[in-house]
Amino acid sequence: MKTTKTTIVLAALFGLVGGMTTNALAAQQDPSVQADINAFQNYFKNKFQHLSLNDFSKGPYAMSEDKRLQFDAIMEFPPFEDLVDKGEELWKTPFRNGKTYSSCFSGSDKTLRTAYPKWNSAKGKVETLEQAIVNCRVKNGEKKIGTGKGKLAWMSAYLTGIATGEVINVIVPKGNAKALAAYEQGKKEFYAKRGQLNLSCANCHVDNPGQRIRGNTLSPALGQITHFPVWRGKWAKKKGDGFGTIQRRYGGCNKQVRAKPRKRQKAAYNNLEYFHTAMSNGMEISGTEYRE
Ligand code: HEC
Repeated sequence: MKTTKTTIVLAALFGLVGGMTTNALAAQQDPSVQADINAFQNYFKNKFQHLSLNDFSKGPYAMSEDKRLQFDAIMEFPPFEDLVDKGEELWKTPFRNGKTYSSCFSGSDKTLRTAYPKWNSAKGKVETLEQAIVNCRVKNGEKKIGTGKGKLAWMSAYLTGIATGEVINVIVPKGNAKALAAYEQGKKEFYAKRGQLNLSCANCHVDNPGQRIRGNTLSPALGQITHFPVWRGKWAKKKGDGFGTIQRRYGGCNKQVRAKPRKRQKAAYNNLEYFHTAMSNGMEISGTEYRE
């Protein structure tokens, strides 16, 4: 508590009062959300006692030594570096009006990834980083771009790369009933059984991490978002360049249980991403990674 107070005092001294900065500093986690996070993380820590918190970010590759070696070998020469460089170039290229993406955000680019999805009080809804980037384009007179892959995924991957080692801190502001309701909806989406197979996200990624399913090893839900957008071999074989955002992945998992994917950047997935990301609070962003 002491540090928070000091930071607020310092912010005031430097004339940063008002606007986003004060709100961001003042925002405190809703206690019921914090209790969920603790229970969620303790469950996985107990189930896999040999793993440290940040180990969970390696997903299926944290589940076996063999898989981890394969992963490490691929990550020595990541197949996606050129695209992340393109993402950086796009991010840094000014719009036709001379403004940049960074101008739409407060704080350093380096920590943008860690605070999203974010509760947007003005709009009364959850905003993902991908959506905030699209909104920034529109505000500056540029066209919308798709949020599943392509340019937006590369820019987003660039932001994930520069956030490596920064700690995830998604906040459901205390005393904000609307934000809590959005979080609760996301939680419900995560635990609700769906599709012809009648399975929830939790059935696979909470109850059965480490188990094999159709040739894949299931990852634990804890730490699933520390490295998104990911570059997937499977996606590279299809149309596209291999990159996909977290919501593209949600769609793939919905399809696996023969449920219809939700629309990207609408309430159902945004609230799911809000809950899903908050569960990994305190973990480090691990940078863009390879997945099968
Ligand atoms: C039938 C089991 C199943 C269900 C249900 C399921 N998934 Fe998955 N999911 C998989 C498999 C298999 C993979 C690929 C291996 C892995 O990373 O777990 C995967 C991968 C993922 C990944 C990528 C992890 C990474 O590190 O690349 C995320 C994120 C994810 N699932 C989230 C979800 C969410 C959210 C839901 C619910 C909407 C869900 N999954 C439902 C089987 C499932």
